[in-house]
Amino acid sequence: MFNPDTVTRFQSIETPFYYYDMGVLRQTLEACQAASAKYGFHVHYAMKANFNPKVLDIIQSFGFGADCVSGNEVKAAIEHGFGKQNVVFAGVGKSDKEINLALDADIFCFNVESVQELHIINDLAKAKNKTAKVAIRINPNVDAHTHHFITTGLDENKFGINTWQLHDVAEALRACPNLQFLGIHFHIGSQITDMEVYKSLCTRINEMQDWFEDHGFQVKVLNAGGGLGVDYHNPDTNTISDFESYFKVFKDFLNVKPGQEVHFELGRALVAQSASLISRVLYVKNGQKKNFLILDAGMTELIRPMLYQAYHVIENLSQESGARNQDLKYDVVGPICESTDCFRKDVDLPLSFRGDVIAVRTAGAYGEVMASGYNLRDRVQSVYSAL
Ligand code: LLP
Repeated sequence: MFNPDTVTRFQSIETPFYYYDMGVLRQTLEACQAASAKYGFHVHYAMKANFNPKVLDIIQSFGFGADCVSGNEVKAAIEHGFGKQNVVFAGVGKSDKEINLALDADIFCFNVESVQELHIINDLAKAKNKTAKVAIRINPNVDAHTHHFITTGLDENKFGINTWQLHDVAEALRACPNLQFLGIHFHIGSQITDMEVYKSLCTRINEMQDWFEDHGFQVKVLNAGGGLGVDYHNPDTNTISDFESYFKVFKDFLNVKPGQEVHFELGRALVAQSASLISRVLYVKNGQKKNFLILDAGMTELIRPMLYQAYHVIENLSQESGARNQDLKYDVVGPICESTDCFRKDVDLPLSFRGDVIAVRTAGAYGEVMASGYNLRDRVQSVYSAL
């Protein structure tokens, strides 16, 4: 919900832009921090969700660690003050350059995704006379019940190491003197709202840690990854994800042994509701069967609807607050020369006009960071609330 002053402010700003509500961001971070601190859990912010510098600075100020998936993310995390002892580095395709950068930075842990990668990290660490701390990313074959493009924990996915390869992992760990085994890592997918899924994950984590201990490895770190979803349908009435229930599942179902640390890598749930994509109607096309609202923002600014059939609330801020005497259904589309450049079909909106300001809500995660320069578009700008 935007207050009238904010809507008035939007009138004088060139669109499209991302609008960040720093108050929502802070409240979300506070809620997550309070819920995780209860159990002494460690939360790393998954930077891939949003690495806008102002957003990173605020998240860092709350004391969260960083979960990175590229050398540049590792660099940015450290530059923004996330302590190197709180940086984890995942990814199926870490390049030698990226591994070397992370070794030089002395990060907390590499989340390793293949047996071959273990040997490469060992060799690179040896060349530097260093020991790399590693966690094994295990593919637990748990169905996340989310969109198949953002499911990562099934045997058929490219991520992680499958359980039938664990003997090779154990052998590699024994053969690699420049690796220090810290623990096990999981990430089963994103936008998960069903807590039962996390219960299944806990069961698998318990089995896996027993396996490692039975084979002579001490498991110090249990990293459950991220994935907690947000309510894309009700950004104003259900703004903050249920961190309490989420962490409680792990408290209740994870078999945490003395001296063990439990880590998480949350992205979306920390930032999604804090931003909206703000654009203007360029043209209204009334057809015989369809009405189109053609916006000045498209898949180059927010690709989620086009890539994952993702739902985002769409509001006309210029008409919504005034008299609503006629509602219509519009296909809300962007200006890009692609048929898929459509935010949503048959959106109920008040009668809309050229110049109306449109908000696409819940765009703070995987929004600005996935923007592209396709069609040689200008880079989307960011605007921030005062708080
Ligand atoms: N940890 C790992 C290893 C990951 O791969 C991811 C996300 C996360 C943590 C954070 O997950 P989250 O808490 O944000 O669900 N672009 C897609 C989502 C891709 C997620 C990739 N990995 C979207 O817009 O829905």
